[in-house]
Amino acid sequence: MCGIVGYIGTKKACPILINGLIRLEYRGYDSAGISTIEKDGISVMKDKGRVKNLYNLKGIDDLEGSIGIAHTRWATHGKPSKENAHPHLDNSRTFSVVHNGIIENYNELKKFLSDNGYKFLSQTDTEIIPNLVHYYYSKDKKDSSSASIDKKDSSLSSTDKEDSSLKKGDCLRFLRAVKRACDDLKGSFAIEILCKDYPDNMIVVRKDSPLVIGKGDGENYIASDIPAILSFTKNFYFLNDLEFAVLSRDDIKFYDDNLQLIEKATKSIDWDASSSEKNGFDDFMLKEIYEQPNSIRETIGAKFSEDSDCEFDELNFSKDYLKGLDKIFIVACGTAMHAGLTGKNAFEKLCKIPTEVDVASEFRYRSPLVDDKSLCIFISQSGETADTIAALKLCKEKGAKTLAISNVIGSSITREADYSIYTHAGPEIAVASTKAYTSQVVLIVILAIYFAEILGLSSAEIVNLKRDILELPKKIEETLKCSEQVKEFAKRVYQEKDIFFLGRGVDEVVAKEGSLKLKEISYIHSESYPAGELKHGPIALIENGVTVVGIMTVPELVKKTVSNLQEVITRGAKTLVITNQDIDKSMFDMVIEIPNTNTFVSPVLSIIPLQLFSYYIAKEKGLDVDKPRNLAKSVTVE
Ligand code: F6R
Repeated sequence: MCGIVGYIGTKKACPILINGLIRLEYRGYDSAGISTIEKDGISVMKDKGRVKNLYNLKGIDDLEGSIGIAHTRWATHGKPSKENAHPHLDNSRTFSVVHNGIIENYNELKKFLSDNGYKFLSQTDTEIIPNLVHYYYSKDKKDSSSASIDKKDSSLSSTDKEDSSLKKGDCLRFLRAVKRACDDLKGSFAIEILCKDYPDNMIVVRKDSPLVIGKGDGENYIASDIPAILSFTKNFYFLNDLEFAVLSRDDIKFYDDNLQLIEKATKSIDWDASSSEKNGFDDFMLKEIYEQPNSIRETIGAKFSEDSDCEFDELNFSKDYLKGLDKIFIVACGTAMHAGLTGKNAFEKLCKIPTEVDVASEFRYRSPLVDDKSLCIFISQSGETADTIAALKLCKEKGAKTLAISNVIGSSITREADYSIYTHAGPEIAVASTKAYTSQVVLIVILAIYFAEILGLSSAEIVNLKRDILELPKKIEETLKCSEQVKEFAKRVYQEKDIFFLGRGVDEVVAKEGSLKLKEISYIHSESYPAGELKHGPIALIENGVTVVGIMTVPELVKKTVSNLQEVITRGAKTLVITNQDIDKSMFDMVIEIPNTNTFVSPVLSIIPLQLFSYYIAKEKGLDVDKPRNLAKSVTVE
């Protein structure tokens, strides 16, 4: 989705802004632009296509301004084009704006502004923002000059309440105009705005769209997410919905929705800046696949040892509360939802709590039977996924306790939820989720163990499971050795049109995730099925030469999946099998053997050959694995 960057300091803003945009490229975009305040006013440079095209724009090297905003756009309203790219100016070139999100009532506001003489150059919803701010800015000026004559008309001039908090020099008029424009906006937004009358200030505000503020020394930064500015600072501020920040070089002031000054503390983020670099790998995706031994170590952290109970510093669930639960709901999107499916298995088997897993975009509109006897768990790598956040808000309204599982400290979902726990997988840059998925699987299983222990359901099974979790990092290292074998099979099948994935039990969940990975980055049509469902329809699709991937890690189900695979082999299918079981390998085209582990966490190992499979197929096809077409890393709109 769109990305935003901002800088105010003493250095030239332009290279810092472009560098920040490059770091946000992974989010997906189709055009890019920057705006700085120069000696002669506001400059805007933008174009369709890649961020690096900005370097070719005439005059870009002459930009000297040390304050600026920047944007990568992922088209929603209006096609990808130079005109529709951000930043957008108001008609008088007083304000420059970049915006992430969607303004739902933009038609209405556009009509209002058009009726008041404003002209529009783009088809975007964003362009109404600088013009609306300008409308209030000039109205405020008129109102305050007439207020000295007629003090009664104060509807748009400063209120006494605001004046007590907004001192002279706080760019009061600018801030008030931004606030009034925001009052009119319906939808989601993260906005950065420059005003040529205030060359030493930048204002930002957000609602349901991500934005972080990085605090530097004599300089400050804005970005859609942390990795974009991690090389400049490790200290971040996070805005809640409808909070405003006024940035200057040495200071950041925060205001609530009534423009009352508020205090905010920085949060220190301990991610290593080099973790957002490729570090010698060809792609972020491959690097992130290989980071999994370490990311899982970080996820496990010090939550338990072989002979100590699980502990989460962030949680304080009582036995009575857990016993009183009717149901756990796990809600997420895409890969995170697949991690949720492994959680269902763990909560039901280890804690005996009925668990439902839902896709967030469906859950929020299906009138779920959630109440105060439900615990609702939301999984989101980015913590910014619009549907997941909306589902969380719904569950809060219905009186349920909410728990977020995220990879990003301070992300929106973690600020909304009653409880938050973190995967600590480090920044995930590639669009296709790999290390975040395995960390989510591990964390949710540890959470299930934690609940089971509180409920007094400890067992030999749990003791074994804990030992197996602690051994996962080493076993992931072993699993990664399958890389060459997987690559060889990928070379054989990369031109296929359809690939099928089959499994039973947790292997079926892995089949879903393997199939999603393949679709996302290789653009090969793929389906996953519970192996037992094959005969109920999908087997009609199996014909000579089609590729079928079978996953078999559940001892009691392995024989059944083998016979399902036999059925496809009889019909001419090529087969790739991922297993840790002792099976007759001779009937399959390739068998990838992975280390044995507990079924609750076997997806952590069995997904790795499938991550590599989709990676090598995409590479064979010459595709951009990190930035697959049409996809965005963080889906911040519905
Ligand atoms: C697939 C993928 C997506 C995300 C989904 C949810 O590789 O990355 O399916 O899992 O968009 O994103 P988060 O976890 O950020 O809520």
